[in-house]
Amino acid sequence: KQEILAFEPATAADLEQYRIKFLGTKGIVKAMFGEMKQVPNERKKEFGQVLNGFKQLAEERYTQFEHLKENGAAASTDIDLTLPEEPHRLGSRHPISVVRNKIISIFERLGFAIAEGPEIEDDWHNFTALNLPENHPARDMQDTFYISKHPDWLLRTHTSSVQVRAMESGKLPIRIICPGRVYRNETISARAHCFFHQVEGLYIDENVSFADLKQTLYHFVKELFGDTTRIRFRPSYFPFTEPSAEMDISCQICGGSGCNVCKHTGWVEILGCGMVHPKVLENCGIDPEKYTGFAFGMGIERITMLNYQIKDLRLFSENDTRFLEQFEGAL
Ligand code: PHE
Repeated sequence: KQEILAFEPATAADLEQYRIKFLGTKGIVKAMFGEMKQVPNERKKEFGQVLNGFKQLAEERYTQFEHLKENGAAASTDIDLTLPEEPHRLGSRHPISVVRNKIISIFERLGFAIAEGPEIEDDWHNFTALNLPENHPARDMQDTFYISKHPDWLLRTHTSSVQVRAMESGKLPIRIICPGRVYRNETISARAHCFFHQVEGLYIDENVSFADLKQTLYHFVKELFGDTTRIRFRPSYFPFTEPSAEMDISCQICGGSGCNVCKHTGWVEILGCGMVHPKVLENCGIDPEKYTGFAFGMGIERITMLNYQIKDLRLFSENDTRFLEQFEGAL
């Protein structure tokens, strides 16, 4: 007790030593309370009162000098309250989002509206309505994840399912693009993943022709890759379009002279397209005698890889900030 009363700290360090000695977890006060269990029961109350008094005294003495601590702390850590705060680090947009937004804005300027739909689809919207009846061999083109507890449900393999929904809505003409995530049961490698992103487009009206398709896509390519980019169409097959084509662009990396990206052909495939099959229009309640339309679909990953010369698709989904930081800021 006397020691406590005689205590006259001059610095924060003195005060801290006092705290450790008396009030710390290994201090005198704690230790004395520890003795409690050796005191006979009938004297416990009395002993407790003395102890509490002692503890109170020790604490009061401490608070009495607490101002030392505050001043001491400020002085010892050089905090300059006038300094501006550390800047907040802004994240960056994911490269897939950057490219998706670019694609969307080009088509928006052409009058296309954005349409979205569910990632868990039914068989009708993903396949059957698109002229891919059950057991049609073309279903093998897209390895599908089915939902085991519900035979009719699956993870959409393309956003063409959204186009079906738009056609079924009955409002014509239709001019939409459908960005979104799609799923395919593929072995994960540098060039394939079990999910990826697409932008598909659909234009249905009277007198829509293949020339409209070509012109629209040519405009798109020049906007996205630059004015000098050339395109070429190769005949292809999709059950939901007739005729169908795949579109290549002149290689952006070597300009056509030959490199690994275009496998020395000078051309890189970027999308599939075609005139909507009359059967598909019919399935969706649109009169194929009156209306025609074109559709196209592209993978965003592929275009992003071309744009930024990214060689491994897996980088997009690994969340490695060293990769992600290299792209445009969030604002
Ligand atoms: N749905 C096709 C795919 O995912 C792409 C496509 C869309 C092709 C529209 C032609 C017309 O592979």
